[in-house]
Amino acid sequence: MSTQNHKALFDALWNDYLAITPDAEAIHKEFKALGDDTIINDHIALRTFNEGSINLENIGKHLEQFGYYAAGEYHFEEKKLYAKHFQHESDEDAPKIFVSELLLEEFSAELQMFCRGLIAEANWNIRKDGLTLPSRPWGKITREAYERLLEESEYAAWLAAFGLRANHFTVSVNKLRDMKNIETVNQFLKDKGFELNTSGGEIKGNEDVCLKQSATMANIVDWEFNGGKHPIRSCFYEFAERFAMDNGELYQGFVAASADKIFESTNAA
Ligand code: NI
Repeated sequence: MSTQNHKALFDALWNDYLAITPDAEAIHKEFKALGDDTIINDHIALRTFNEGSINLENIGKHLEQFGYYAAGEYHFEEKKLYAKHFQHESDEDAPKIFVSELLLEEFSAELQMFCRGLIAEANWNIRKDGLTLPSRPWGKITREAYERLLEESEYAAWLAAFGLRANHFTVSVNKLRDMKNIETVNQFLKDKGFELNTSGGEIKGNEDVCLKQSATMANIVDWEFNGGKHPIRSCFYEFAERFAMDNGELYQGFVAASADKIFESTNAA
């Protein structure tokens, strides 16, 4: 199987993400100012629906073309999500890709109907032009539709507004040159005036689960809706510190309980 260049894919996702996440660019600059000019990403996260040509299975097939394979699966009962993480077959510095899908059948008939409209549009566009990342394979939604979705699922509202793009990038704390633990990174960020997500504590996870994570609150951007612009939360920047398992290898998976809280970084409140 011919493998497409995953670096070009990440460049596209990163530039798209930076355009709506000014904090990420600012933090990147602060790290670089310390002399850390090789910032390695631990992972990125994509959100999708569990139906049609954009479901997790189809996104997984798309990622295979870039040398990625599924390496773990996760269930989020409360948020009604199923997820997998993908790793690159040969490039150890390639970020992992965490893809979650919303379990539509567990929501109201109204939400299902609305989202199936978006999926039908996506099916049509992808049949015509193929799947690309980043993309929003449906048109602008109205602010009213966004608000209605928000009442039931912040995740659905975000996905309907933004589509298939990086919801966050995550800096690998292990690979930073100077700041060797997540506590130091968090303090540095707070000293520089960035707002961290405190849902479930500033640090999600611990050494026992071999993963500690923290995240900024998502930026607020003036987003283009069908009918005009309105400020909403876009994307956030995340930080991950990984610890060795009993066999001595760094844990490469994710912790559902921690990710559950991280999802709240885009909460509108
Ligand atoms: Ni993450």
